[in-house]
Amino acid sequence: MTSLVILISGRGSNMASLLEATAAGRLPARVAAVIANRADAAGLHTAAAEGVPTRVVDHRSFATRDEFDSALAEVVDGFSPDLVVLAGFMRILGSAFVSRYEGRLMNIHPSLLPAFPGLHTHRRALDEGVRIHGCTVHFVTAELDNGPVIVQAAVPVVDGDDEQSLAARVLAQEHRIYPLAVGWFAEGRLRVCGRRVLLDRAQAGQGALIAPLPQAVRAD
Ligand code: GRF
Repeated sequence: MTSLVILISGRGSNMASLLEATAAGRLPARVAAVIANRADAAGLHTAAAEGVPTRVVDHRSFATRDEFDSALAEVVDGFSPDLVVLAGFMRILGSAFVSRYEGRLMNIHPSLLPAFPGLHTHRRALDEGVRIHGCTVHFVTAELDNGPVIVQAAVPVVDGDDEQSLAARVLAQEHRIYPLAVGWFAEGRLRVCGRRVLLDRAQAGQGALIAPLPQAVRAD
């Protein structure tokens, strides 16, 4: 069975959604370990309560990014994962780490990439006045938030939204698409073809995951 190592930095709700999906038999994978770069990451408790081994590799204990990355890779490799899953992992990983896990390193980002890479995506989406926002699961490449897109889910931005309400609407979709994308990987259904990710030989995640939109922003 496909073995996962999940990297987190905080709350860990995406990690929890993956654990739930494995427990429910919706995701044919096993979470071998959850690793955080902070000892106070709340998700560590959730993982431990589910009997998943946890580790902390504190980035502050290392003088350089490279040293942190190598220490992290050593801990990750100790669990021999098939796939490394970034779930709210808030450290930028260097190119050596990224190329070590090329094609088996995934991230979830709270925007419809390539819009809004980086931080504060919900605030920026509101500031820009976009009417459609969402989240993206992608393979990780050395360039931040820029790897081949596996699946996206869109949500409407509605009148009266603030950062919290928009984040909550997006997060509900994150919890839906991350187990889906990891499941596709586990089933061997994904193939990277340049910038595109193919699912069973067609473009991954096509169309099916657009959440219902209010009439005002519908294209039809
Ligand atoms: C999520 O919105 C994720 O997309 C972003 O950070 C947040 C982490 O949330 N990278 P959680 O720790 O999974 O609850």
